[in-house]
Amino acid sequence: MSLSREQMLVEMGVAPLWVLRDQARQQPASVAPEVPAAAEPVLGAELPALAPKPASVQAPPVAATEAPRPRPVMVPGSAVTVDGLDWPELKTQVAGCRACGLCEQRRQAVFGVGDENPDWLFIGEGPGADEDVQGEPFVGQAGKLLDNMLAALDISRGNKVYIANAVKCRPPGNRTPEAAEMAACWPYLERQIALLKPKIIVLLGKAAVHAVLHDDKSLASMRGKPFEYAGIPVVVTYHPAYLLRNLPDKSKAWEDLLFARRTLRERMAPELPF
Ligand code: URA
Repeated sequence: MSLSREQMLVEMGVAPLWVLRDQARQQPASVAPEVPAAAEPVLGAELPALAPKPASVQAPPVAATEAPRPRPVMVPGSAVTVDGLDWPELKTQVAGCRACGLCEQRRQAVFGVGDENPDWLFIGEGPGADEDVQGEPFVGQAGKLLDNMLAALDISRGNKVYIANAVKCRPPGNRTPEAAEMAACWPYLERQIALLKPKIIVLLGKAAVHAVLHDDKSLASMRGKPFEYAGIPVVVTYHPAYLLRNLPDKSKAWEDLLFARRTLRERMAPELPF
């Protein structure tokens, strides 16, 4: 059963207060204000220096047969090189990756899903149990909420949206991925971003922020501010799994998505008054 727009906004915890801008250029008085853009925002102003990366080593080729499997490479940083890989090559390399210990307990690596020519790139933390089984990001409960958030914006995972994670393999017990695991996996995400060329990146939760911006400040302090990665605007918000446990913060996430959409529109058509 598909949800109406109204139902989706209710699901997001933002109806009836929030009205999509398209629908209401003149908003009713009861509409709460969107998150104001940071005073005099300067894209990239808050972007910390990227951590130095260790010298890359070629990742082992995908094994043609099951045995013997190479031991995972346990290095801080990444043992992965992806320079110049196209989509099929990158997917093959991710599927056979042994660059960190997460490969030991995964059923499969979860590459990413969606429109490979997207406006939006959403980046989460890492696959959970459902994603590990199905091989697609955000297919569990958190994924349902993410889908509703996308639908409220009139987009979906196949339509102008790509969804990826900070790590491609499920951390055991759904623990937060460690910094070394995110660093090991980073070249894959970096290459995905280079191939996707999204117009905006939305970071869902602290792990994604750590992976892309190399920043460990609180989400609360980063929300509503413009960041940048490789010339692409970046917006930070809460992870959907967190929102499922902290329902009042859904409305903040909705504010963040509206901020992201405004940022995207300003970038695509800077002359229009969004
Ligand atoms: N949480 C994430 O961060 N990513 C997924 O793919 C699923 C749940």
